[in-house]
Amino acid sequence: MYPDRVVSGMRPTGALHLGHYHGALKNWVKLQAELPCLFFVADWHALTTHYDDPSIIEASTWDMLVDWLAAGVDPSQATIFIQSRVPEHAELHLLLSMATPLGWLERVPTYKDQQEKLTDKDLATYGFLGYPLLQAADVLIYRANLVPVGDDQVPHVEMMREVARRFNHLYGKEKGFELKAQDAVKKLGSKRAKLYQELRTQFQEKGDADALEQAKAMLDDAQNLSMIDRERLFGYLEGSRKLILVEPQAKLTDASRLPGLDGQKMSKSYGNAIALREDKESVTKKLRTMPTDPARIRRTDVGDPERCPVWKLHQVYSSVEVRDWVVQGCKSAGIGCIECKQPVIDMILQEQEPMRERAQIYLDDPSLLRAIVADGCDKARKLAHETMRDVREAMGLAYGD
Ligand code: TRP
Ligand code: SF4
Repeated sequence: MYPDRVVSGMRPTGALHLGHYHGALKNWVKLQAELPCLFFVADWHALTTHYDDPSIIEASTWDMLVDWLAAGVDPSQATIFIQSRVPEHAELHLLLSMATPLGWLERVPTYKDQQEKLTDKDLATYGFLGYPLLQAADVLIYRANLVPVGDDQVPHVEMMREVARRFNHLYGKEKGFELKAQDAVKKLGSKRAKLYQELRTQFQEKGDADALEQAKAMLDDAQNLSMIDRERLFGYLEGSRKLILVEPQAKLTDASRLPGLDGQKMSKSYGNAIALREDKESVTKKLRTMPTDPARIRRTDVGDPERCPVWKLHQVYSSVEVRDWVVQGCKSAGIGCIECKQPVIDMILQEQEPMRERAQIYLDDPSLLRAIVADGCDKARKLAHETMRDVREAMGLAYGD
């Protein structure tokens, strides 16, 4: 009923590293060419955990946006914006909060986990509890059906679905819906109308999922329907409700988790990261000095790639041939560690080269970046308005609009 749409956000944590690139951005770049995408900086989400130190948010936001563009997120394909610049997210968050049971929020695993992990912060706050609901508003406001996220965020997307379902159940009851839906059926033309009725009965009485799919496909094809009638007919198929909000699905990023310099997950806080636009000398130095198999003390000692963080990088960056060369050379002490690292160094520098170039454009002229974001915010706001009009109406707040 609603067009395919992808929404994803990232909290502004400052300059991104290659782990963010492999874990998320690379996937965004691919998706933007396939589907309409909205990517935003979740600055309000950052405040839920950094409410005591807002001074870093603005700079982190701009840095991160440059990183996105550097990584190849393309403003001519995707809509790029800042969450707080589209205040409708907050309005939807508030309205959704009215009917969201506290238990749904308390049960989200990140709620307890983060409270336990970030012990230096008091996260027993209203804003932090509402984190996943704000995230639900971020997605539902665009009626997006796909949310690219890492696996830690899957419970958040599950909750969004429940929130959307509950909303439609509570507020999708349009006055005179039944009659309006029947009028819309007539507009299909007699042949299609008959088919629609048959398929609807088959689905509602026998739970025939094929019949439902067939009916949906028919509605997709019916050119002469208005948006609102189409919506009614979709809702009428499955029950007697209008679908105001769309239930989104998580789209898991292919698990290409990039290890850091010490073999653990790459993370700024572990001090094992390579920044997306780090300069060449620093990258080379970090890789030359990164640890290897601790058993290989002398050049003549044999090693085992399975115990070496460099090998994990080869698994991401190197061809089968190079990897064979590594395994052979390491186990026979045929190659030295510096020699072994060189192909990884080359590949990483090569990966970063276009990123540095693209970033330079925005560093030289920051007004370009501001214009891209202003344009993205406008586009996002337009879409958000459309949904909010329906949401307000459904919740008794239309006041004759
Ligand atoms: N919570 C997400 C994270 O920490 C960021 C985020 C906020 C998000 N709103 C979103 C992700 C909406 C996807 C969709 O990574
Ligand atoms: Fe690691 Fe390569 Fe040295 Fe073997 S040769 S220990 S894989 S860096």
